[in-house]
Amino acid sequence: MERRMLVAGNWKMYTTAGEGAVLVQDLADELSSFDGDVEVVVGPPFTGLKTVSTVIELDHLEMGLAAQDCHWESEGAFTGAIAPRMLVDLRVDYVIVGHSERREYFGETNETVNKKVKAVYSAGMVPIMCVGETLATRDSLETDSFVRDQVLAGAAGLTPEQAEQLVVAYEPIWAIGTGRTPTPESANDVARMIRATIGAMYGPPVAMKVRVLYGGSVKPENARMFFAEPDVDGALVGGAALKADSFTDIVRAAQ
Ligand code: PGA
Repeated sequence: MERRMLVAGNWKMYTTAGEGAVLVQDLADELSSFDGDVEVVVGPPFTGLKTVSTVIELDHLEMGLAAQDCHWESEGAFTGAIAPRMLVDLRVDYVIVGHSERREYFGETNETVNKKVKAVYSAGMVPIMCVGETLATRDSLETDSFVRDQVLAGAAGLTPEQAEQLVVAYEPIWAIGTGRTPTPESANDVARMIRATIGAMYGPPVAMKVRVLYGGSVKPENARMFFAEPDVDGALVGGAALKADSFTDIVRAAQ
C-alpha cells in the first residue's frame, strides 16, 4: 500500500500575514524545480490564512493549507474562537488538532480533541491529530499505552471513510523544539503501534491508508532517516518550517 508522503509546516505563533505571504512565495520559488510526489502543507496562524490562501490560489501553487486549531461548534457565543466552516471558507484543507502546546497551555483534552476531529471532518476538512508522550512517561516505559489511549479517544466515532483519511502526527513532547529526537527506529515503533490501534478500531485496510507523521526537531539533517522508516509517512515540522530553504530540504528528503 503506497501512502503519499506528507510534509506539513506548523508555523505556530510566528509570522504576520505579510511575513507569511513572503515565506510561502519563497517556498514556492525553492520548490519550483521539485517534481517529487510529496504533499506539501503550510500552517500559518489564523491571521495569515487568508493571505497565504490567496497566494496559493493566484500563483497556482501545489500546496495544501492547514489551520492550527479550531472550535468544534459551527458557530456560537465563543469569544475568540474560530469555527471549522470559517476555515473552509478560506480554502483550508487540514486542521492541526490536539498539538501538545494546545493540550499543555490551553486545556485541550482527549475529549475536546475528539470533538474537534469530528467537527473538522463534518466541515469537509481533514484533521492532523497530534499525539505524543512527555519525557516522564517515556522514562516510565508507558509511551505505548499513553499514546494508544490518545489515539483511541481522539479518533473515536468516525466513519471508515473519515478514518482512512486521518493524519496522525506522533510528536514526543520532549523532542519538540529541543533538538532532541527519538531514534528513527523508536519513532517507527510508535508509528506502527498507532497504525495497529487504528487497525483495531477500523480494520487493517483503513489503517494501511492512514498517514502517520513524525514531528519533533525534524531538520534537513535528520529528516531522511525518519522518512526511511516504513510506518513514517512524513513530518510535522515546527522551527525548520519557518525558513524556506530548510523546509524545502525536508520536502526533498521525503521523495
Ligand atoms: P519543532 O516543532 O519542529 O520545532 O520541534 C514540531 C511541532 O511542534 O509540530
